[in-house]
Amino acid sequence: MEYKIAVIPGDGIGPEIIREAKKVLDQIGKQYGHIFSYEELLLGGASIDAYGIPLTDDTIEKAKKSDSVLMGSIGGNTTTSRWYQLEPSKRPEAGLLKLRKSLNLFANLRPALLFEELAEACPLRKSIIENGFDMVIVRELTGGLYFGNRKTVIEQGERKAYDELTYTETEIRRIAKRAFEIAGKRRKKVTSVDKANVLDSSRLWRNVVEEVKKEYQDIELEHMLVDNCAMQLVKNPGQFDVILTENMFGDILSDEASMITGSIGMLSSASLNDTKLGLYEPSHGSAPDIAGKNIANPIATILSAAMMLRYSFDLEKEADAIELAVKQVLEDGYRTIDIMSDGMKQVGTEEMGTQIAQKIK
Ligand code: NAD
Ligand code: IPM
Ligand code: MN
Repeated sequence: MEYKIAVIPGDGIGPEIIREAKKVLDQIGKQYGHIFSYEELLLGGASIDAYGIPLTDDTIEKAKKSDSVLMGSIGGNTTTSRWYQLEPSKRPEAGLLKLRKSLNLFANLRPALLFEELAEACPLRKSIIENGFDMVIVRELTGGLYFGNRKTVIEQGERKAYDELTYTETEIRRIAKRAFEIAGKRRKKVTSVDKANVLDSSRLWRNVVEEVKKEYQDIELEHMLVDNCAMQLVKNPGQFDVILTENMFGDILSDEASMITGSIGMLSSASLNDTKLGLYEPSHGSAPDIAGKNIANPIATILSAAMMLRYSFDLEKEADAIELAVKQVLEDGYRTIDIMSDGMKQVGTEEMGTQIAQKIK
């Protein structure tokens, strides 16, 4: 069968890591008899350079018509890049947010698990990670601070800026249901993370999550304040199964969770709606500091491609094959510099992709 994938290489390391993900997908295609066809689309800085805006209607339409979207990462150095001299609505990130909203991608899944081979790359003490950890952060992606009104005004002779954080109960209910569904297929525990001791939006969040919980009697629910969660992630990451949280908290906590897996270069993600069309991208950014050097870790993107096979195409065996290949390459000692430790074999982006592709069975 043919699968039409819209590919957005993006900016910075985006094109380098996407190249490796395609290499691995092509190997899956060969071994399992699928055809993956790619249509490249522009987003972010690359789109600004070509059209003056970070996302065109043409990109949105083509993404909607594809079977799924695979993305690298977008954006540049936010202090030095000329893209950040543009008004906020024309900057790279505005394009990504509009694309997420246009495709209604409200559920962002970010799995953080420790490959035992990477225990040396994890900054936590051995005793903390001896039993490993395996969690998935379910981040609400189309509401909250990211999509509220924002403005900078002059008030009483000084500049004042505000950003609105709103959630409707419909938005909370659908992401909560998604988290409970996912927990049902895992270890049956949801930790809902909020700031209900301060924020009204978090108090509504907590109430609605409690209501949804009634439909999922077999799932354990706990509530945790976000500051505590940030601490618990490094104190005892093994306690978490599914972390359910709003957009901004999920953004921050997922970067934290990524580091305890060894590197942000390991954390994949899937952004989903109620259809089969998803957007798959690593959780990290365009890493302008290492772009063009062939040193970026492509594993987060390769694992995101595996999520695409699983969630958009129902190719479970093929997704497993990619995950197994990653594990075997780590077992064989291949490491990009971000996950390097003593005695391991350091390789670049391209070599890491080739090694993983060669292991596909
Ligand atoms: P970043 O994630 O790009 O980089 C943070 C640090 O992690 C850097 O030191 C970088 O070198 C390192 N890093 C990131 N990915 C890596 C990989 N695959 N392998 C090895 N090291 C890696 O975050 P930032 O520097 O804060 O942001 C840079 C740009 O990326 C900004 O414009 C930001 O808006 C954008 N961004 C985009 C996305 C996305 O496209 N989804 C996500 C996050 C940030
Ligand atoms: C991410 C990124 C984006 C976000 C930015 C680039 C808008 O940090 O995907 O985690 O904050 O959602
Ligand atoms: Mn982020």
